[in-house]
Amino acid sequence: ALVEKGSFRHFMEKEVHEQPESCQRTFSAYLDPVAQSVRADIKAGIDFSKITRLQIIACGTAYYAGSIARYAFEKIAGLPVDVEVASEFRYRTPAMTPGTLAIAVSQSGETADTLAALRWCKDQGLMTAAVVNVHTSTMAREADLLWPTHAGPEIGVASTKAFTAQLSALLSLVVCAAAQRGRITKAQEAHYVQTLLESPGLIAEALGMNADIVRMTYELSKARDVIYLGRGDMYPLALEGALKLKEISYIHAEGYAAGELKHGPIALIDEKTPVVVIAPDDDLFEKTASNVQEVAARGGRVIMITNVPGKVPTLSGDAAKSLKVIKAPDCDPFIAALVYSVPIQLLAYHTAVHKGTDVDQPRNLAKSVTVE
Ligand code: G6P
Repeated sequence: ALVEKGSFRHFMEKEVHEQPESCQRTFSAYLDPVAQSVRADIKAGIDFSKITRLQIIACGTAYYAGSIARYAFEKIAGLPVDVEVASEFRYRTPAMTPGTLAIAVSQSGETADTLAALRWCKDQGLMTAAVVNVHTSTMAREADLLWPTHAGPEIGVASTKAFTAQLSALLSLVVCAAAQRGRITKAQEAHYVQTLLESPGLIAEALGMNADIVRMTYELSKARDVIYLGRGDMYPLALEGALKLKEISYIHAEGYAAGELKHGPIALIDEKTPVVVIAPDDDLFEKTASNVQEVAARGGRVIMITNVPGKVPTLSGDAAKSLKVIKAPDCDPFIAALVYSVPIQLLAYHTAVHKGTDVDQPRNLAKSVTVE
């Protein structure tokens, strides 16, 4: 079927705005809103109590979705997780332990490195699963388990709705794993399911940040380098934010764990290098806020994305002027990566639009990399 842009300027913009529906569709395949639990057919397809370790393999944006999911699999399901880019994994002869479930995450299901890594795992006798958006793809066919995402066709080369659909599927599987491993009670399962099912509404609310972001990106589009900071699962989201900006605006960007700021990137801070800080109100908020102070005190310009602007430290003099806050919707930390994906995508999108790049077909990039 022909997919059209409608009233949107670019497919990427359209796909960013489709996320309440694409995530909702994906949740519907995994979660039972009436029983307030993971769907029975999903639970019947896997027994996470028999799994000792997850090995997530992916490339690009899918790798960051896997990296975010890792935090939740370990924290909530108590399941050890390794995440690796497929191009490294496939050539380094990794030592695998029995009971490992290998999960390939891929929009296309055809990325050459991810497919090769998946086949390698199969050859090792491991159980394999594919979290893919193209349900007829090679990975979908070859993996033992198919865990589809329901983003619908993604046309923009820079992945957006496929990414949040991957997060939706993976976070649903976290709840499945936690329940099967006896880590959560029925009541807690119901709570997590409800939290996930509320996220499409919060994603829609996050789209309301658009106007603020359009204003803020005029300045960002003039930067030569941008640094993204986050802690916990906001760290891989910072990496994804930097990747999005690079891909479509051609501005050099680096994502860093906020706690690593003083081990290097702080040397880059000056009034010309904006720092995007992703700081939802979670256990780590105060730590990240203190990194904001460190950057501002050195004359760095900060764009802070947070739901608690009132908790942002008050700065004096020039430092106060260099701090801009974008207010995000309130949300449970469990789904913060889903909600904060939206401002991160919009930031890259509008910066690229201001620069006038070819947003849907960025130079040198392919939608799917099927040859090495
Ligand atoms: C290319 C695309 C990215 C994508 C990556 C992995 O680099 O430009 O948007 O994240 O491939 O693709 P996959 O189809 O495996 O998710």
